[in-house]
Amino acid sequence: MSQRVDSVLVVDFGAQYAQLIARRVREAHVYSEIVPHTITIDEIVAKKPTAIIFSGGPKSVHTEGAPSIDRAVYDLGVPILGICYGAQLIAQQLGGRVDRTGRGEYGRTPLSVRAAGALFGGGMPDEQQVWMSHFDAIVDAPPGFTVTATTPEAPVAALEDTARAIYGVQFHPEVVHTPYGQQILQHFLYNAAGCEPRWTMSSVIDTQVDLVRAQVGAGRAICGLSGGVDSAVAAALVHKAIGSQLTCVFVDTGLMRKGEGEQVVETFRRNQKIELVHVRAADRFFDALAGVTDPERKRKIIGELFIRVFEDASGGVEDAKFLVQGTLYPDVIESGTSKAAKIKSHHNVGGLPDDMDFELVEPLRALFKDEVRAVGSELGLPDEIVWRQPFPGPGLGVRIIGAVSREKVEILQHADAIVREEVKSAGLEREIWQAFAVLPDIRSVGVQGDERTYAHPIIIRAVTSEDAMTADWARLPYELLETMSSRIINEVQGVNRVAYDITSKPPGTIEWE
Ligand code: XMP
Repeated sequence: MSQRVDSVLVVDFGAQYAQLIARRVREAHVYSEIVPHTITIDEIVAKKPTAIIFSGGPKSVHTEGAPSIDRAVYDLGVPILGICYGAQLIAQQLGGRVDRTGRGEYGRTPLSVRAAGALFGGGMPDEQQVWMSHFDAIVDAPPGFTVTATTPEAPVAALEDTARAIYGVQFHPEVVHTPYGQQILQHFLYNAAGCEPRWTMSSVIDTQVDLVRAQVGAGRAICGLSGGVDSAVAAALVHKAIGSQLTCVFVDTGLMRKGEGEQVVETFRRNQKIELVHVRAADRFFDALAGVTDPERKRKIIGELFIRVFEDASGGVEDAKFLVQGTLYPDVIESGTSKAAKIKSHHNVGGLPDDMDFELVEPLRALFKDEVRAVGSELGLPDEIVWRQPFPGPGLGVRIIGAVSREKVEILQHADAIVREEVKSAGLEREIWQAFAVLPDIRSVGVQGDERTYAHPIIIRAVTSEDAMTADWARLPYELLETMSSRIINEVQGVNRVAYDITSKPPGTIEWE
């Protein structure tokens, strides 16, 4: 590989800020990694960062047990930028003063730049809006520091010591409500820290290809494809690295959405020329699910059978030692500690048991979802896979309320395809987190032609969301709902009514089960 790629450590002092900062740094084409504030100096040195950013955090620096960092970090000669809490910590640790000024500042706040210094300038106005969220404020900068900006309640809204390359801002440059925020971050990265904007998706692919080759050598790897974006991109990347040493296994549970099984086969076998074992297991799943109505039992049956089928199929791949998984960076950061991670592992029915004797290959471990999509496109995967909506591991099995049968799956697949087609042709596909159909376990009376009907309703569910932890029902145009409704009733046998779910999460969940 060619030149060194710079890397920035984002030290996490709590709350949600660190991920956003890391993403903004990456948008500036500099690699960044989040580390906990409990990191030791030796660990920092071992990572050889080009620069370090301290994130914001929810505490006051004066609180007993407030998160801190080894002061030796200031003597490493590595440029540092502190944001909000991070700036206050720098001020406090280096001999300045942080106090309660009384009012604090929250939201859009006018900032007056006193001196361009390293962070401002470059055509930025001296008076600009920034986003604030602080109660304490730095009232005296530490010795050696210059105050470069102020706000009404923050006498030291930005400070710097260029000799030691230590910088701080009280406001949040990482949020969109700070219009010059990205430019300020870039000034820090490029000018103050000398980072080069070399981190791109093609550099990521090159690096990962090298790493996968080094890890797998002449061995064989297998990858379970779910049809989802993460496993698809992981497979395509590993295939680029080791070609025919990779075999993909696609377990067709019969619970996928309409046309999805064929699409996986088409994309991977025909277009990407990846060796693919396509296990048609629908009958086994329908047999196992016959008459089962309890949602948790259904999930359990699907999950366990999936593992058994996968094990059988992968056993047929002689001497496979490596298992490719589409683990993403948020899974790595959150793993084990947060609630989010637990919810996810509970959800991941496609997840494989720990006792499978494989070494993991996880080429997407450092990437956020949007970066994975960009890598997928760069590797030539079609938009239908790269922009696929999240889909539960147990598939349509959880969107059929009550007992699952082949006939009900067909009804749901058809209605669901109409919902998605119409969302797509209305141009709303990328604005909507998920849009799908649900088949409840009830029937009601209707009239079609001159005939009385007694058939199922379809419930349309469409939500907007950032991360699936919370969601709002999508305000779909009435005309769009009308088209969906009349198409579903006219085209799908066995459906005589359509309802739209107007519940947010919480209190609802996104899926019906
Ligand atoms: P809920 O219904 O809990 O869903 O609001 C939150 C998000 O998770 C998805 N989901 C799953 N994803 N395996 C998955 O990989 C699962 O078993 C599963 N169940 C729900 C759901 O589609 C939504 O995006």
